[in-house]
Amino acid sequence: MIERQTFGSEGNMAETAQAIEVRDLHKRFGPLEVLKGVSLSAKQGDVIALIGGSGSGKSTFLRCINMLELPTAGSVTIHGETIELKKDGNGGLMPANRRQVQRIRTKLGMVFQSFNLWQHMTVLQNVIEVPVHVLGQPRDQAIEVAEALLRRVGLYEKRDAYPAFLSGGQQQRAAIARALAIQPLVMLFDEPTSALDPELVGEVLSVIGDLAREKRTMILVTHEMKFARQVASHVVYLHGGVIEEQGPPEQIFGDPQSERLKKFISSIH
Ligand SMILES: Nc1ncnc2c1ncn2[C@@H]1O[C@H](COP(=O)(O)OP(=O)(O)OP(=O)(O)O)[C@@H](O)[C@H]1O
Ligand SMILES: [Mg+2]
Repeated sequence: MIERQTFGSEGNMAETAQAIEVRDLHKRFGPLEVLKGVSLSAKQGDVIALIGGSGSGKSTFLRCINMLELPTAGSVTIHGETIELKKDGNGGLMPANRRQVQRIRTKLGMVFQSFNLWQHMTVLQNVIEVPVHVLGQPRDQAIEVAEALLRRVGLYEKRDAYPAFLSGGQQQRAAIARALAIQPLVMLFDEPTSALDPELVGEVLSVIGDLAREKRTMILVTHEMKFARQVASHVVYLHGGVIEEQGPPEQIFGDPQSERLKKFISSIH
């Protein structure tokens, strides 16, 4: 579906584009074809929950969106701009324009299972690093934005602490603030709570739930089915490198069609 919207200063972007559009994505690791043609699109404000068993290709799919992993075939388009890929001579693809990839990456906020904060930097330094050193924002302005984000995720008091002195839940909330600081067009979450002790999961889900209610476009890989049911606008079930079933959360969780999805959902509850 096409939606009309304007993008402020992002004048080079198509006015009517999907926030994200992935077409026929394939990824092969040697003999193993992990993604066998996955297409997915999200319009502004959509929250897509990506679910599936271990090894089904969820992380690979997210990593292909920001080219942390290079797809073997297919295309990725962010707000109307398609990442230019060319043949690498080995049967795969590589960026035709590295600067374009770098630029598009700054429009995608990625949050990993294992937080990946820079350990030698304080929380505040983690949050301002990319805005100041990659995006060239004035430091004062970046600090102001960072402090507001840290307040939002409940970490303002910890802004001068190093990651090693934070709980897992606090580290993940700092990682979310860091991803938000680049003002991403799309947030990509890869199992953001699965490395956390159970008592810390709620505080991170609550931050992500707020972002969903604010209509931030996101793709969320998660095993938290109850949460996915609450916040997702659309759920995609990946199995064996293809989309086995997709639909609105009430259908996927309330009336799944494929036997595999039925089994998957009952195994997780
Ligand atoms: N760099 C790599 N080299 C070779 N194989 C890989 C690589 N990365 C992933 N794979 C393989 O691709 C398959 C999909 O992995 P992926 O990490 O995308 O799964 P996942 O759905 O995220 O699983 P999980 O729920 O356990 O995180 C797995 O069989 C994995 O071993
Ligand atoms: Mg994974």
